[in-house]
Amino acid sequence: MEKSQKRRVDPEALKKEAAEAALAYVPKGCVLGVGTGSTTMYFIRGLKKGWVRGAVPSSKESERALRKKGIPVLDLNQAKKVSVYVDGADEVDRRMRLIKGGGGALTREKIIATAANKFICIVDESKLVKRLGKFPVPLEVVPMARDQVAKEIRRRGGRPVWRKNFMTDNGGEILDVHGWRVTDPVKKEKELEGISGVICAGIFGKRRADLVLVGGPLGVRKIKGGRGIRW
Ligand code: 5RP
Repeated sequence: MEKSQKRRVDPEALKKEAAEAALAYVPKGCVLGVGTGSTTMYFIRGLKKGWVRGAVPSSKESERALRKKGIPVLDLNQAKKVSVYVDGADEVDRRMRLIKGGGGALTREKIIATAANKFICIVDESKLVKRLGKFPVPLEVVPMARDQVAKEIRRRGGRPVWRKNFMTDNGGEILDVHGWRVTDPVKKEKELEGISGVICAGIFGKRRADLVLVGGPLGVRKIKGGRGIRW
């Protein structure tokens, strides 16, 4: 009993359960959008060869994993439409708005999530928050603008930390911004993406998730619609 209790609360086991639950939402023959991160990796592992027409990955890492599984990889420009996008998150609030970009793939993630008819977010329950912002907000920036953007962020009360020795798949750099309580995610996202030199902010307020599958000790919870949710 002690052994099985341990297995149920292991965050990796919970991520895996949420990821496997998402497989049931992938229509046969569809074009699938695939995110980045450890939870998404469990999802990719569960995909069956031949099930989807092709997949649009949000990173080179996910692209490699998809190719290994024999799943055709599509460029977003080739894919006429993306039916479902499946990805993890660093934080999820009660209205299914997210912080993403812990793995640095936020820009492509936001592009594919925006292109998709449906965005399914897969997380373990440690990612659920009342208000976004405990997890630092990642910003992808143009390298030459890094210091200028950092200065602007400090002026707005944030503490930017440069993710040294990290380059995104787009050749960008990441500033992780600490110290913000994100009370209005849509407004904050718009404000940050209006700063010259910012490519993308890791707040998904405008394009939030349509469905969140949450792995917890009692199984996988489905959160939909953003109403009447308590955690
Ligand atoms: C990558 C992301 C990931 O989805 C996020 O960091 C969650 O990762 P994990 O599933 O490893 O906890 O946004 O840019």
